[in-house]
Amino acid sequence: MSARVVAIVGSYRESGATELAVAAVLEGARAKGATTQTIRLSECPIEFCANCRQCTQAPGGERGRCRQHDGLEQILAAVESADAIVLASPVNYYNVTALFRRFLERLLGYVYWPWGQNGPTLRCKLQPRKAVLVASAGMPGFLIPLATGAARALRLAARMLGAKPVGQLWIGLAAGKPQPTLPARTLKRARRLGMMLA
Ligand SMILES: Cc1cc2nc3c(=O)[nH]c(=O)nc-3n(C[C@H](O)[C@H](O)[C@H](O)COP(=O)(O)O)c2cc1C
Repeated sequence: MSARVVAIVGSYRESGATELAVAAVLEGARAKGATTQTIRLSECPIEFCANCRQCTQAPGGERGRCRQHDGLEQILAAVESADAIVLASPVNYYNVTALFRRFLERLLGYVYWPWGQNGPTLRCKLQPRKAVLVASAGMPGFLIPLATGAARALRLAARMLGAKPVGQLWIGLAAGKPQPTLPARTLKRARRLGMMLA
């Protein structure tokens, strides 16, 4: 059976560097027979986390349900049925975008954190799916994991979603033109990473 790869994109625009890279990753996955889906957070009706922690109170391995009924459930259902995921965001103000952060905060149902316990415990430590992490920024790419919180936020999201990163694409110098293009070697690397997900 073909692998199912779901990409979650925290960019504000379709033709940006982040989505160009994600498209290349998914192209690579499809070349190896995977079926792919792109979820643009900019198009998803997702509320902010209310910090009520209702989703964290019941013990057990099962994800706690949010009291807000919005687009989140559909995204998580897609992720949970996937064999691999791509998590992607531009770097804005040294971190993932507010769009991606809002999504990340809504993943709290994956932890058990009853009142009276100082910190959360991940409900399930298994990482049955693979992940590729993608970030784009104006700064040189090698600085993204060193000088920003974006890599950490993407890794954390992968962990919450039960995914083990098998590769990352830190795309730097991406803010020089209104319509960015990616160098051929970046696109090639993106496709190769996609093949690893299939
Ligand atoms: C509000 C805003 C904040 C940004 N902050 C940073 C930053 O802190 N560091 C950086 O290197 N680039 C920063 N950038 C540049 C973006 O990360 C870069 O243009 C990115 O490739 C945009 O992604 P997109 O093409 O997918 O939209 C910022 C851009 C905007 C609009």
